[in-house]
Parts: sequence; C-alpha cells; structure tokens
Amino acid sequence: MTNQEDGMKKNLTNYGDKGFSIFLRKAFIKGLGYSDEMLDKKIIGITNTFSDYNPCHGNVPDLIKSVKTGILSNGAIPLEFPTITIHESFANPTSMYLRNLMSIDTEEMLRAQPMDACVLIGGCDKTVPAQIMGGLSTNIPLIQLVTGPMLTGSFRGERVGACTDCRRFWASYRAEELNNEDIEEVNNQLVPTVGTCGVMGTASTMAITTEALGLMVPNSACAPAVSADRKRIAESTGKTAVKIAMENLKPSDYLSEKNFLNALIVLSSIGGSTNGLVHLTAMAGRLGITIDLIKFDDITKNLPMIVDLKPSGTGYMEDLYKAGGSQRIFYELRDFLYLDAKSVNGTTLGEEIKNSAKWTQNIITNKSNPVFNAGSIAVLKGTLAPNSAIIKQSAATESLLIHEGRAVVFEGLEDLANRIDRDDLDVTKDDVLVLKSIGPKGGPGMPEAGLIPIPKKLAKQGVKDMVRISDGRMSGTASGTIILHVTPESYENGPLAIVQNGDLIKLDVPKRKIDLMISEEEIAERLLKRKKVNMRRRGYNKIYMEHVTQADRGVDFDFLI
Ligand code: FES
Repeated sequence: MTNQEDGMKKNLTNYGDKGFSIFLRKAFIKGLGYSDEMLDKKIIGITNTFSDYNPCHGNVPDLIKSVKTGILSNGAIPLEFPTITIHESFANPTSMYLRNLMSIDTEEMLRAQPMDACVLIGGCDKTVPAQIMGGLSTNIPLIQLVTGPMLTGSFRGERVGACTDCRRFWASYRAEELNNEDIEEVNNQLVPTVGTCGVMGTASTMAITTEALGLMVPNSACAPAVSADRKRIAESTGKTAVKIAMENLKPSDYLSEKNFLNALIVLSSIGGSTNGLVHLTAMAGRLGITIDLIKFDDITKNLPMIVDLKPSGTGYMEDLYKAGGSQRIFYELRDFLYLDAKSVNGTTLGEEIKNSAKWTQNIITNKSNPVFNAGSIAVLKGTLAPNSAIIKQSAATESLLIHEGRAVVFEGLEDLANRIDRDDLDVTKDDVLVLKSIGPKGGPGMPEAGLIPIPKKLAKQGVKDMVRISDGRMSGTASGTIILHVTPESYENGPLAIVQNGDLIKLDVPKRKIDLMISEEEIAERLLKRKKVNMRRRGYNKIYMEHVTQADRGVDFDFLI
C-alpha cells in the first residue's frame, strides 16, 4: 500500500482538484488493463532509449523485459517511457551538441511523470552522462543500467572491434596499405553485435566510472550486451530500483565529493576516455560539486594505469569482463580509492569489492606492474591554453611528449577537408597540426575531430603520429599525440584563434606546458584584429550558443549547473 504522495499519486496533472486528477489518471491507465491493486503499488519508471538509429542500444527491449521481471517480482509496477536517444554516428553536427538536450528531456520526464524510482538505461557515449545529469538534477531515487559492450569480430583471422580498429584500418586505407575491397570487407566485421564500442572508449569509460561513482549494481559495467549475465544484471537492477523506491534513497543521500574523486581516479587508472573528464565535470556540476582540472592532474599524476585495453593497450571489453570486470579494477585500486564512499546499493565501495571473486588473469594488472606508470590523462596550461588543455599521454607517442614544431594551421573542418591531402601542403612530420573552430561553440558541440588525420603524403611515407592540437574532442577509442579541449576555444577568442602557419608551438607534457612561442603583446594584438560574426539563431541552437560552457566546466548549460 503506498502513502498519499507515492505511486500514481505522485506528480499529479494540475486541474485544481487533486481528487479529480488521480481519478482521471487511473481511468486512463486502466485502459492498458491495470487493476486497482496493481495501481496501488510503487512505480518504477524505465527509460526506453531504443531506436533504429542507435545500434549501441539494440538490446534495450530485452533489457527492459529483464528489468521488469526484477521489478514485478519485488512488488512494484514497471512503467517504461521513451526519451531521446543519441548514437555517435547518427547525430549531426555531433552527439555532444545534443547531450544537454537529452539531459533536459530526461530530467523533465522524470519530474513530470509519477514514479518512485527510475531505471535509466543508456550506453552509447553521451546517453549515460545525459541521463545522470538530468537524473541528479531531479534527485529522485534512480539507478543506471548500461547496455554493455559489443563482442569482437574477425578480419582474415585478426581479432577486430569498434572503434580503435575502425580508425586503424581507415588510416591504413588512407596510406594505401589496404585497397577498396579490403576496407569494405573489414567494414562488415568491426561491429559484429549490438552493444557499445568494445574497447576503452567513452561508453566503456562512462560505464565503469558510473559504477565507481556508486550509481549501478556491483560489477555491472562490463558484461557484454548479448550475454545472459547482462540480462541478470538488468533483473538485479530492477530489484534494486524497488528497494531504493521503498527506502526513498535519493542520490543526495549517498553521493558526495568522495564518489566523484573515486570516479576520477578510476578514469585515470583504466586509461579512460578524455571525454569522461568533460562528462564527470558536468555530472558533478549538477550536484554543485566542482571538478578542478589542476586538482584532477595532481590526484592522478602518479596513479598506475592498470587495464590493458585498446586504445592504450591491447585487449577488448569482453576480455576485461572475463578478467573480473569493474570490481576487480576497484579491488586493485583499493589503496587509492575512498572505500567508505556509499552507493545506490546501500553499501560502500569497500564492502562491494570485498565480496568479489579474484583469479589469475592478464588484463587487469596492479600498482607494482602497471600498464602505464603515470596518470593517463595530463592537464596542460600555457600561452596557447590559458585555462587548460588535455592530452591522453598513455595513448600518445612517448618521443613526442616533449616537442617543438612549426604550426600547420587549419581554420576549421572544411579547410581541413580541402587541404589535408593535397600534395602541395607545406608539412613535415615534425610540424604541429592545428585545427581551430571545433570547440563547444565553434563546432558546435566539440566534434570528435581532434584526431586530425596524418596528411596523406606523410601517411604514405609511413608517418603514424604527429603532435595535433585543437579545441575539440577525440573519440575515446582513438590514440596519438593529440592535445584536446584547448580552453578558451578559438570561437571565444582563445589564443588558438590567432595561431598562424609557421608559428612555433612548444609542448612539454612532463612540465604540463603548451605554449605558443610568440610574445603576449603579439597575441593580444592579433586577437584585437579578429572580427566576430554574429549569426541569427533560433530554437535549440539559440539556447545552446547562448548558454553552453567551456570544456573545463563540462560543456553543460550555465543555467543547469
Ligand atoms: Fe556507441 Fe561507440 S558508437 S558506444
């Protein structure tokens, strides 16, 4: 039996007569066949983010069935409802542009409809952060379920998986090491099942860091999308959702700065996606917790990276799951984590990892035998990035981490597409490729174009990596000596805007420096000469351009933080 403010009586439509509101609501939902007895129980909302445009969420209908089993068998009613869904390859101009829209949609549907708790089902890169951002803003009892990673495929005997291998094979094709037939054949093998990218990309990073944050059932981040375990995890998530509904356990009851510090430590130690830093900053911002990038660098600088997965290492997500998954990672990091941080399960991280089984394996190492022995993501500052920039040093070329070179500048994506492969492009392997106008506003939406392709003429000579700089992002599945998230962005008149061909740029990752080697007076003078174009805007684009924040604040809207 629910009390007056629970279940169907929650969030009533406003007719000025509460009795009538509940009478009408029940009349309508009975059209679906519910009895009064069922309608008197707690309600668990389930977000349905299935779409034919989102193969990473292809298993959502199956997961919903299992979540419903967990809910019904524990005495509550499951009610699924649709929200926006976003897939990386099916969102123009970029999925990041729509993340905040999805968070608003999720938040408002959670606020508007009657539910005592909600199961958020996401997976593809932007969906999990969007759901958590929206969910945390409502502060209703909630739990996250991820769709899980896809399995790997095989190309002529070689094991392959999206999307590190997508980029590797495409680079080989550009270098004319593969022909048209080869590239079409590999295209059939890179995504052999539904589910999220099978390496330590953004989706895997967000799944594992969300579990570290305390918002998922234990060891639920890594089970493959098409496994029976994934369905059992969904059932268990439904069961936990009923428990938190009964206890009215809200995120603010257990989430604190410690939980976010745990997520950041895990982000670094798994060699996680640079996008994870932007998303965790935005998620924390919804609870009024500030993630300071310099503090992140201080905390993670000497942390071991202990997971051997692409793009920094060699394995795939299914290997990580077989090695013990997220709980084994947290166990190996136990000396660095806040073990007293509480979770949605009503326990602490320390209690959860104590109960997990451990066995010999070679994917998750430990602090005495790290895959990389410094923080995987370094935060840089300097005259080119006065507020910050970042580099995933674990996926970079070591010899390029200290480098000075001549800038070869592209003013935007169109300029890049027009000139990068021209034979007369004045570029050598020691130059620094600079791409402007792909920041939060310039993109808009920070396209994942920071992995600037190696100019074709150099690729054909066998050049695999160069220092590349932009105000955009790169996919978590990508690797190279790539400086990203330069803040302020060029659209907002950051110094990146005035870099010219031939300027010298100096990178020193150990010293955390990125400098444009011209005087401050010259920078100021060039910036003064820049003209800003004011465009007429409408709809979501107007809201986005007027309110989006920079990368160091999570690219959230200022009015949602
Ligand atoms: Fe969806 Fe990679 S495209 S997780």
